[in-house]
Amino acid sequence: KLKVVTIGGGSSYTPELVEGFIQRYEEFPISELWLVDIEEGKEKLSIVGEMAKRMIKAAKIPCEVHLTLDRRAALKDADFVTTQLRVGLLDARILDERIPLSHGMIGQETNGAGGIFKALRTIPVILSIVEDMKELCPDAWLINFTNPAGMVTEAVLRYGKWDKVIGLCNIPVNAVVEETELLGEKSGDVFFHFSGINHLHWHTAVDKKGNDRTDELIRKMYGKDHNPSIVANIKDNRLIYEQVANLHMVPCPYHNYYYYTDKMLAEELEDFKAHGTRAEKVKKIEAELFELYRNPELDYKPKQLAERGGARYSDAACEVISSIYNDKQKIMTVSTLNNGTITDLPDDCAVEVTSLITARGAVPFNFGSFEPKQRGLLQVMKAMEQLTIEAAVTGDRGTLLQAFMMNPLITSGDIAQVVMEEMLEAHKKYLPIF
Ligand code: G6P
Ligand code: MN
Ligand code: MN
Repeated sequence: KLKVVTIGGGSSYTPELVEGFIQRYEEFPISELWLVDIEEGKEKLSIVGEMAKRMIKAAKIPCEVHLTLDRRAALKDADFVTTQLRVGLLDARILDERIPLSHGMIGQETNGAGGIFKALRTIPVILSIVEDMKELCPDAWLINFTNPAGMVTEAVLRYGKWDKVIGLCNIPVNAVVEETELLGEKSGDVFFHFSGINHLHWHTAVDKKGNDRTDELIRKMYGKDHNPSIVANIKDNRLIYEQVANLHMVPCPYHNYYYYTDKMLAEELEDFKAHGTRAEKVKKIEAELFELYRNPELDYKPKQLAERGGARYSDAACEVISSIYNDKQKIMTVSTLNNGTITDLPDDCAVEVTSLITARGAVPFNFGSFEPKQRGLLQVMKAMEQLTIEAAVTGDRGTLLQAFMMNPLITSGDIAQVVMEEMLEAHKKYLPIF
């Protein structure tokens, strides 16, 4: 028996996950896939769940698919648990994006005030899942993709006291695929070394001959003729070539928010006027996807799923799972315990770093210390994350206000508190007591 439980199973991303398991069936003979959701997600669960069953049937693999609203029944004796839930669904994300924007600040799913509130809603739920796991499947691994993935992973480690956890994001996987191509190399021939925290990391690239190709990559990505985009939800890179060249490390696309806040805000406002926020656009994409999933003939992942920013994430998830199960010692970039990997950050925090994925989980490659040009922002952001996580666990207003004041994407002063209060009110239903 090899049992995988996916919490938030009604997500539109589920077919990608199922495809990942089908492709790896030989090495990872999954025998039960349990898709779990909540009452509000019931309809989506049944549509995408039936689609998952058709995919598995078409692939002719002997895996049972269970659809359930009973999380505890699903967790019983699980081997791997994946979390892809969204507390408050896309409507809560719309508020995360709209409220800050209405006060002239970036409104974004994982950054700024929106990211903080997504953490506040999500962390209590993740911790309750961990409590269930302690009782029902104490040997299982938790693979988390729920955003903000770094903060959620840290909450599990530090407050859940659960160390069999790996946090995942698709940015590093996408970067590896696209940048290997950009360098004109074959897959696997370039070693990418990522260091930082989720949605705020930098990387270098070294080829098989031992040549450092990072500066070349920076020229190709940020020099005047090239502006590739790594993920669908962030248009392109607009960073100043001279600055990135001086870093000698490639920043992740989310750095645009910090290095170029005004331009990102102007673009967000423009997009907002044209078609609402990203979450509203995603709602439309989702509706179209679910229309497709309803088709009883469809038994493969539709290409439209690539319009979502998270494309390739579930493939990475299946790879992490198989790598743990088979002790594949694959090199992947994941959120895991720092434990000295980045000496500028506390040992017991979560970092997103290139690691070997072994039967004992992630073993990070050592990085050491960043120079001030990276360290400054990194330490501010980690402190901001830690305050946010603490606020999510304690429900303490003062702690939350400190996180707001510290966040570079939140305007300082009274307005920070105004936005905080407005968001506390708007999300009340899903928050710990503040
Ligand atoms: C990127 C990030 C994810 C994020 C997603 C948003 O891929 O890595 O963490 O969830 O984009 O995509 P969406 O289509 O929901 O805007
Ligand atoms: Mn991500
Ligand atoms: Mn600020």
